[in-house]
Amino acid sequence: MRHVIEPTDMSVDEIDQLIAIAEDIERGPNDYANRCEGRILASLFYEPSTRTRLSFESAMISLGGSVIGFSSADTSSAAKGESVADTIRAISCYADICAIRHSKEGAALVAAAYSRIPVINAGDGGHEHPTQTYTDLLTIHSVKKSLCGLTVGLCGDLKFGRTVHSLIKALSLYRDNEFVLVSPDELQVPEYITGILKDRGCLFERTSDLESCISRLDILYMTRVQRERFFNEADYVRLKDSYILNMSKLAKAKDSLAVLHPLPRVNEIAVEVDNDPRAKYFSQVQYGKYIRMALIMKLLEDRNGGGAC
Ligand code: CP
Repeated sequence: MRHVIEPTDMSVDEIDQLIAIAEDIERGPNDYANRCEGRILASLFYEPSTRTRLSFESAMISLGGSVIGFSSADTSSAAKGESVADTIRAISCYADICAIRHSKEGAALVAAAYSRIPVINAGDGGHEHPTQTYTDLLTIHSVKKSLCGLTVGLCGDLKFGRTVHSLIKALSLYRDNEFVLVSPDELQVPEYITGILKDRGCLFERTSDLESCISRLDILYMTRVQRERFFNEADYVRLKDSYILNMSKLAKAKDSLAVLHPLPRVNEIAVEVDNDPRAKYFSQVQYGKYIRMALIMKLLEDRNGGGAC
């Protein structure tokens, strides 16, 4: 049974295959219209989502499958005190694969331990968000035609931003990437993530000054300050507008820069940037559907011993 709890649950070769399949889906989505006919995705969202939930659901429907699930804990038996372990035992009776988002770090791992179907982590607290990372890698590959030799700036809430943790873990597996970690002191990337960079021999630096490094970047990954993970509102209010990317800051960047953001955005990218050709965050949303189609097919095929899903 394959589960995807963190991005490295797929090897680099497998991630490259997912990207190749997603690019093929982009060229000819109709070729994939019946690949998961008769299969059911359970979409278990205990925490709010627009893109992840709806892209998973759209992906399964576009593969010819069906979707069941809930979009908030309040409408599931979690509201009556049911554990994730018991819920996934029930869901295993109804569906062939599931995507789970939960506010608690480790919830997807617990689900996988009790599941009889493949579990995909659709975001667990401030920990990991592997399918966002596959989306980000596909977006970068579409722009740069490579995932190697890039100078990647990650800016904003690097402490609580699960997309950042997962992206660093995956992108540091590819050759010759350098990381510029731009955040206020209080929101620096956790040490277990910088430990991974050190273990893999990746160059990285920390700074709190976006303008001093933007001219060197190939990729700028902006992130929202994660209000829902703060312990007090005053700290959030103090830090929320630490970085606002606008056209005046972007003027210092390369013409070939790609600006990504997992979204939702609050203030960290001014709306005036949206029409700049370097803004890739809305294409990124579309790629999220294609890569999730590729991942659903792969996990269901693997479960069938390599046969059609
Ligand atoms: N990128 C992302 O996870 O967006 P949602 O919270 O809307 O799913």
